Amino acid sequence: MVERLKPWLWLSPQVAHKWGPLFLNTYGRFKPLQTLTWSPFAWRDLDFTNPLGIAGGVDKNAECIDGWWTLGAGFIEVGTVTPRPQDGNGGKILDRDKRAHAVWNKMGFPNRGAEFVARQLKGLYQPHFTPIFVNIGKNRETKLEAAHEDYIACMKALGDSADAFVINISSPNTEGLRELLQPENLQRFLEPLVKASHENMGSRSSDQPVPLLLKVSPDITNEELKKVLDISLNLNIDGWILTNTSIGMREGLRFPSDGGVSGLPLAKRSKELLTHTIDYLGERRKGKLIVSSGGVMSPTDVFERLRMGANLVQVYSALVFNGPFFFRQVADQADLSPGLKG
Ligand SMILES: Cc1cc2nc3c(=O)[nH]c(=O)nc-3n(C[C@H](O)[C@H](O)[C@H](O)COP(=O)(O)O)c2cc1C
Repeated sequence: MVERLKPWLWLSPQVAHKWGPLFLNTYGRFKPLQTLTWSPFAWRDLDFTNPLGIAGGVDKNAECIDGWWTLGAGFIEVGTVTPRPQDGNGGKILDRDKRAHAVWNKMGFPNRGAEFVARQLKGLYQPHFTPIFVNIGKNRETKLEAAHEDYIACMKALGDSADAFVINISSPNTEGLRELLQPENLQRFLEPLVKASHENMGSRSSDQPVPLLLKVSPDITNEELKKVLDISLNLNIDGWILTNTSIGMREGLRFPSDGGVSGLPLAKRSKELLTHTIDYLGERRKGKLIVSSGGVMSPTDVFERLRMGANLVQVYSALVFNGPFFFRQVADQADLSPGLKG
């Protein structure tokens, strides 16, 4: 009944965003913790009870993890976390278009900082019910030339509580950040992170370094993608998340011209980048993790991304339009979806 009425869509996007955590934490407290198992997947020493998780930005401060576990997420990405706490951008930072199934945001990494998130993660049930990725970024005032220092500071603060780090240099809402993803800057930026990850002891669950995943922008060209993949492979980056929000894709939408667009308008480009990545890597993808994000709006979309070759799938906008019981809806239909491993 609640699922059909979608009461969260009666609220303004800001209000729904503000009160969502209260709902989740209350729900997490009263429902027994369960995991939803369908198409279980293992990668390195991590076990995913199912391949569908929440994308970066949904739980920025790791405040609702029990709730997400209870709702059946197969893995959780928290953040973007920056070394020091910071507020979001001023003015309007969030909007949605129900008709187009699109979300717009210009948040700019509001978060309570790496130490707070580390404390949150340490307070969780151990071992984690499902893997937790930590998405890391730089503080607004940190100069681009020193950006790597912020990422390394996050890795140090969170290294013993993260199952993987997501390096976010693809958000459009921190000035200049995406320049780091440009092939001419990427090598210089990533190298110290990889070095630090090797120096930074083992991870929570093994004596290997915490895996590093690179989150890619949907706005790079196919040629740039190839260069990004070559550079990442060369540095032994462990996988990619395809994709973040777009600075374009607002045809017919009344969103402001800055910020990033998520949801249905992203689907086509996100799928193209997934296909290009898999084709270009070929045999070289062995042992690497490919996560598809962007415009996954229905259970059918989840299964399509998996059939296309993604190891894992993430959602943000689908939770805005379908609500928090999306994980259960997908699990129910997974049993009926032919060809899925399980
Ligand atoms: C309101 C909002 C906030 C977001 N915040 C972050 C963030 O902090 N870090 C990040 O890497 N991605 C962030 N994203 C991008 C999502 O993680 C995801 O990559 C993107 O929304 C595409 O997925 P979707 O179409 O399922 O929404 C945010 C997206 C939205 C809508």
